[in-house]
Amino acid sequence: MEFSCKDFKVGKCEGEKVVDGETMPLVLKPPVPNKSDLESLLLALKNNKEWFEQMIIKNSAVLLRGYDVKNAEDFNEIVEICGWEDIRYVGPAPRTHIHKRVWTANEGPLSEFIYYHHEMVLIKEFPKKVILFCEIPPPEGGETPFVPSFKVTEKMMEEFPEEVKEIEEKGLKYTFTAPSANNVSSMRGRGWEDTFGTEDRKEAEKRANALGMDVEWLPNGGIKTILGPRCLTKVFEGRKGRKMWFNTVVGMHGKEISSAMMADGTEIPEHVVKRCEEIIEEESIQFKWEKGDVLFFDNYALLHGRRPSLPPRKVLVATCK
Ligand SMILES: [Fe+2]
Repeated sequence: MEFSCKDFKVGKCEGEKVVDGETMPLVLKPPVPNKSDLESLLLALKNNKEWFEQMIIKNSAVLLRGYDVKNAEDFNEIVEICGWEDIRYVGPAPRTHIHKRVWTANEGPLSEFIYYHHEMVLIKEFPKKVILFCEIPPPEGGETPFVPSFKVTEKMMEEFPEEVKEIEEKGLKYTFTAPSANNVSSMRGRGWEDTFGTEDRKEAEKRANALGMDVEWLPNGGIKTILGPRCLTKVFEGRKGRKMWFNTVVGMHGKEISSAMMADGTEIPEHVVKRCEEIIEEESIQFKWEKGDVLFFDNYALLHGRRPSLPPRKVLVATCK
């Protein structure tokens, strides 16, 4: 596979990092200034489909910058031309459908930090690619930081070889509590009715089971979902045999509405979780959103989050198989 392409020019962005020889994110720009219109971009993507997909896997993240992408309709055309099948979002974030394959990224309060995660990591089928579009860049904060997942595994294995081995062998168990009806005052306030697409409890149970969860109903009308055993790390084909940190221990451990422990009920030591949180932050890559940016990332390889932001901020999302 040729690592250059005449239809794109490689650019740079503030905050990019070189990880194991690969620039993250790989910034792709119009080859000449008069090729920055949407039509030219769509043509370039169409003519270089396979190459473009390879770049996403090789660099884990590709940022299209300098193109005239204005709104959800334009973004949807970009998503469609790539030709990857849509995957429906299942998870705690309250989201609003905008246009065809395009959704808001998270309706929760901008003041909250959305912790690093692989998209839909706890669901049986998770997206291979997540595509984000920045319609309104935040005036301050609001970055979408991301982390090469294998780096987290490497460091954790270095610092906590025994703990990692034990958790790996036993597997993980998570619980998560969802309210009844959506509560947009919380970024994890997605009600179970919306999460499972039904108001019928029996049907919700059936759908939860199909996604690999057990459920318990709560006196307040909410639901507790129990997931496990789940993996600590995962290796995906074509990703250099890298062990991805494919779990959500830091995000769910010891929280009011969630928990993470070993599948046999053993607690994960607090200091291990704390240090893991630091490692994730240390390995993170930040860039500043610019209007019209489109970011593609390999959801198998990266954890991503959202920093607190001043309003306004509008970032839209599409998820693909
Ligand atoms: Fe996400």
